Amino acid sequence: MDELTIPRPDDWHLHLRDGPLLQAVVGYSAAHFGRAIIMPNLRPPVTTVEQAAAYRERILAALPPGSDFTPLMTLYLTAQTTPQEIEQAAASGFVQAVKLYPAGATTHSEAGVHDLRACDETLAAMAELGLPLLVHGEENAAELDIFEREQVFIERTLLPAMARHRRLKVVLEHVTSAEGARLVTGNEANLAGTFTPQHLLYNRNALLSGGLRPHLYCMPILKREADRVALLEAATSGHPRVFLGTDSAPHPRGAKESACGCAGCFSAPWALALYAEAFDSVGALGHFEAFASRNGPEFYGLPVSGQTLTLRRQVESVPEFYGAGDESGDACIVPLRAGGEVAWSVVTRQ
Ligand code: NCD
Ligand code: ZN
Repeated sequence: MDELTIPRPDDWHLHLRDGPLLQAVVGYSAAHFGRAIIMPNLRPPVTTVEQAAAYRERILAALPPGSDFTPLMTLYLTAQTTPQEIEQAAASGFVQAVKLYPAGATTHSEAGVHDLRACDETLAAMAELGLPLLVHGEENAAELDIFEREQVFIERTLLPAMARHRRLKVVLEHVTSAEGARLVTGNEANLAGTFTPQHLLYNRNALLSGGLRPHLYCMPILKREADRVALLEAATSGHPRVFLGTDSAPHPRGAKESACGCAGCFSAPWALALYAEAFDSVGALGHFEAFASRNGPEFYGLPVSGQTLTLRRQVESVPEFYGAGDESGDACIVPLRAGGEVAWSVVTRQ
């Protein structure tokens, strides 16, 4: 198979940031994806429907002229999020989900949740109103090995919360471990999982062996080869509750190439090509359409896109960086696979 035409895909986990960075990156997602779930981890975080409405307007204003890209907004869950805010969110028509960041687990998660049980009333309202909980699944404690935080989160926090709220729809985002892959491809009808290109294509050696590669540093961190293989098997399985979520998370170059570099990989311009490469590597392009275009809308109760997008087996070069000619300034962003090649490219969209 050298060409693949699918309904226009959506990105179910995307960081667009704000201000000049938003302006610099939003066009790359909008060029390929019809909709995206927009992460609320701004500073300060997007915790209210009012803030989500204002952020949505800023995103729409930053889109290239004529773009029909639809941002699907989320609220950042805190111990103070009330059931009333959830009711407003469900009634808003533009807030699609609520995001759980365990406090301290990742970039801009300081305002997140310390103990999810403190949010039980709010979670009950979400279950009642059908508003999904999007989960950054990492238990964050100093004594927990960073490579085991997802598994521990599943046992200590996720499964108990799902047992307390049987009807709550949950997305375990950016699944990174074999345990997570097994869980989301099981029989839990209200649980789905998203997968990033970097976790399907790289293991922790790529990050840490033969030199430290800050542009492969993201949360949850890249794991063992056995985990990557399990993730690839899950993502390409055709299971109805696995779908695409890039976690494209741009940071200025200087903030990543630093003594304390921040977490996040910018993949938006090349994400579809990288996913196609991953699916192709295991002969699973037949399941690409379900993963990229159908399973996500089905889980969220939204229509599959009526537009199409075509990918072709055609080698392309990934730029060393994006940004307005300024290799070290705030607008310079180094993408995933910078300076390398991808084996697929997006050719048309109708
Ligand atoms: C994300 C970011 O930069 O906002 N970083 C990351 O490593 N994935 C936050 C997140 O999704 O964890
Ligand atoms: Zn993210």
